[in-house]
Amino acid sequence: MKAVQMINIVKVYPNGIVANNGVNFEVEVGEIHSLVGENGAGKTTLMKILFGIEQPTQGEIRIFEKPVHISSPHDAIKLGIGMVHQHFMLVPSLTVAENIVLGMEPTKAWGTTIDMDRAVEMVNEVAEKYGLPVPAKEVVLDLPVGIKQRIEILKALIRGAKILILDEPTAVLTPQETEELFVALKNLAKKGMTIIFISHKLNEVKEISDRITVLRDGKTMGTYRVEDVTEEEISRLMVGRDVELVIDRPPAKPGRVVLQVKDLSYYREDGVRVLKGVSFSLRSGEILGVAGVEGNGQRELVEILTGLRFGATGSIVLNGEEVLGLTAYDLRRKKVAHIPEDRIEKGAAVKASIAENLISDRYYKRPFSGRLVLFPKKVIEFAKKAIKMFSIKTDSPLTEVGMLSGGNMQKVVVAREFTSGADLLVADQPTRGIDVGSTEFVRKKIIEVRDSGVAVLLVSADLQEILQLSDRIIVMYKGEIVGYFDKNEGLTEEDLGYYMLGVKRHDPDRVKEAALL
Ligand SMILES: Nc1ncnc2c1ncn2[C@@H]1O[C@H](COP(=O)(O)OP(=O)(O)OP(=O)(O)O)[C@@H](O)[C@H]1O
Ligand SMILES: [Mg+2]
Repeated sequence: MKAVQMINIVKVYPNGIVANNGVNFEVEVGEIHSLVGENGAGKTTLMKILFGIEQPTQGEIRIFEKPVHISSPHDAIKLGIGMVHQHFMLVPSLTVAENIVLGMEPTKAWGTTIDMDRAVEMVNEVAEKYGLPVPAKEVVLDLPVGIKQRIEILKALIRGAKILILDEPTAVLTPQETEELFVALKNLAKKGMTIIFISHKLNEVKEISDRITVLRDGKTMGTYRVEDVTEEEISRLMVGRDVELVIDRPPAKPGRVVLQVKDLSYYREDGVRVLKGVSFSLRSGEILGVAGVEGNGQRELVEILTGLRFGATGSIVLNGEEVLGLTAYDLRRKKVAHIPEDRIEKGAAVKASIAENLISDRYYKRPFSGRLVLFPKKVIEFAKKAIKMFSIKTDSPLTEVGMLSGGNMQKVVVAREFTSGADLLVADQPTRGIDVGSTEFVRKKIIEVRDSGVAVLLVSADLQEILQLSDRIIVMYKGEIVGYFDKNEGLTEEDLGYYMLGVKRHDPDRVKEAALL
């Protein structure tokens, strides 16, 4: 029995972009089916059509082998389709149970008040049935991302979803949370749930899928059983060429100390001490990797270093000058580049064009601007070059960034920060949400900027990325540096894992001495 049949789907957006160009997509009941393809290949568009957010220009959809017309998410839900978006749509001030039953609240006193006890009961029932435990009575606001995602899944399940769409669910998860999600998904599939899974991480795709459909340029490149294709073959189908999954990293030639962080401590607004005496140095021409399970102080460290968070104690010396407490604006002028973890919220202006976003940090400088005027020709020229170099999928540098696919928005920010002429590059999850081909490109680029003398601080939840790129590695756990490795030869993900989980730790004084140089 087929759960989903999408036949010859064409989607032309109002601006003339053809996002789906005759896609055929079929999913069997009870299977986990991955949808893969480069940034801009049309995956999200196809799923938005299935969930009734967008209307196809042409094509036919059948759900459980019956022809349907899905004109809104409401229709989709009635047909048993649920979707977990990459950006969660929860109400932070409500409790978990309130979020899950929102719009279908059980009532008491003849319908005049919401029966909260019953709501909590309902949520606990579903949570238990599907093995997705959540703290039903807690407020959503400060819950970890993995739990928020579980709430989104439960929201779909409680509404009777039999087909569950997950658009890049693991992009925001730690490896541990990803494992938990996979256990839950496999469980759901065993119970007969049909799951459509989107990810750029091919090792995950290999682990979780029964079958895989590859999209390229809005067309289907084929559907494969997972055991019939290797990661290399999948990337070749996606990209149309061989992708190097291993990256060559010649030895670093470290120069002068660019950044020295000493005894950095920080208390969060709620009084929790999230950084405890962090010390390390970073030289020009080297990459220092910061490994750690997310939520162990890395975010605060990055925000303090880039002038987005204030109130820390200790010292940050950049090129011989104390810079603790300077704003992001000041630090940019002191040659700090920053690829933020959340590109859409902190990195890009979605209503502005690609070209405007690319020069937003340097429009006042030559060659883009004279004393008073902007030189539009130079701007466009530069933007066109960047679009080509970073293979940003668009037909014009004047396209609004908000119209790009998720991964292409990120590439715009990455392109700007790589070309800013910085001394220090703080790269926070630089390849998250970016497809395999462009990941290869960004990683090579990081090594290239290193070799041109930039000091790179690489923060990543992706241990493969840390091991592939870093010359030295620190591991953070509960706001401290608990592990320090002055080279990464022979080091494995498991080795780092022990430190990340707090099972092992190096002597704090030795770490400080070694990491400080
Ligand atoms: N609302 C929109 N208006 C106009 N064009 C759009 C819109 N949304 C997406 N597009 C375009 O449609 C194409 C496909 O985008 P889509 O978001 O489906 O890609 P994707 O495969 O999900 O990519 P990613 O891996 O980066 O998330 C892209 O060229 C994108 O620029
Ligand atoms: Mg997408």
